[in-house]
Amino acid sequence: MTRPKVYIARKIPEQLLSPYRNQWEIEMWPYEDLPVRREELHKQMGQADAIFITLTDVVDQELIDGAKQLKIIANMAVGYDNIDIDYARKKGVIVTNTPDVLTESTADLTFALLLAASRRLIEANEYIKEGKWTTWSPLFMAGTDIHHKTLGIVGMGRIGEAVAHRAKGFHMNVLYHNRRRKPEAEEKLGAVYVGFEELLTNSDFVVCMTPLTQETKDLFNRRAFQLMKETAVFVNTSRGGTVNEEDLYQALKTGEILAAGLDVFQNEPIGKDHPLLQLDNVTALPHIGSATRDTRYQMMKLALENIDRVLQGKEAKTPVK
Ligand code: DGY
Repeated sequence: MTRPKVYIARKIPEQLLSPYRNQWEIEMWPYEDLPVRREELHKQMGQADAIFITLTDVVDQELIDGAKQLKIIANMAVGYDNIDIDYARKKGVIVTNTPDVLTESTADLTFALLLAASRRLIEANEYIKEGKWTTWSPLFMAGTDIHHKTLGIVGMGRIGEAVAHRAKGFHMNVLYHNRRRKPEAEEKLGAVYVGFEELLTNSDFVVCMTPLTQETKDLFNRRAFQLMKETAVFVNTSRGGTVNEEDLYQALKTGEILAAGLDVFQNEPIGKDHPLLQLDNVTALPHIGSATRDTRYQMMKLALENIDRVLQGKEAKTPVK
């Protein structure tokens, strides 16, 4: 019997693949730290029954058209804006993502970034390491308080809720804005639903947790930043495309908002000359929201399990609906 062909578009640990070696004919991109070349992915998709990709791989109409026997695109990420979902659906290709397994780790990182940006942790760390610490003074490295302040969460999905949960431990008031109201979250977390503009106006911290879609592209633009408090801290661990980076730059430069903590950017990866990296009030991270070993292993495992199920004619565990 011929085995289904599975293409893994990033080198992943052998221990995760070995349970499937007898069932599948596996081809794998040989590098862990380099994304697959588009032509290679195109070629592989022409022969594969299943592909395992990461968020750096853009799967558009052209690539889907080249896939003659593809049944599943398993994305190792909860976000799936790198895939033309509608077209895949039209062509009968199942798309899966990796929700749940990364919720808590991503919420941890989001909260860490909020703390770091507000209490100037990275700046202080650089200061001491550069040997600049000579004395203590009243307003030295003074940041902004987090406890008892108002947190505004835009996009109250699983991760948004997990961030709200952490905020309760800091005695914060939580506002949220979402496509639909979440009465369970309101009850459980005391979160208050408000309109987008009301959230921007009243929050001390605005956290973007919404997926990138046509509707949320550039959601955080000039007007949004102007509506925020001058003391507001903006945090984004979702997707860079939700933010107009030029507008954010202006808002941070001119003092329209106080600071930003950014884990994601419009065009990743960014180099050290990126304008936002030139600002002292920006704390930046290289898209590491879910980056713990445990969570990344869980994500890889889940993507492989989805492939396994679909190739066996079963329903995927976490299909994108
Ligand atoms: C995702 O899963 O979408 C994150 O951005 C990476 O973990």
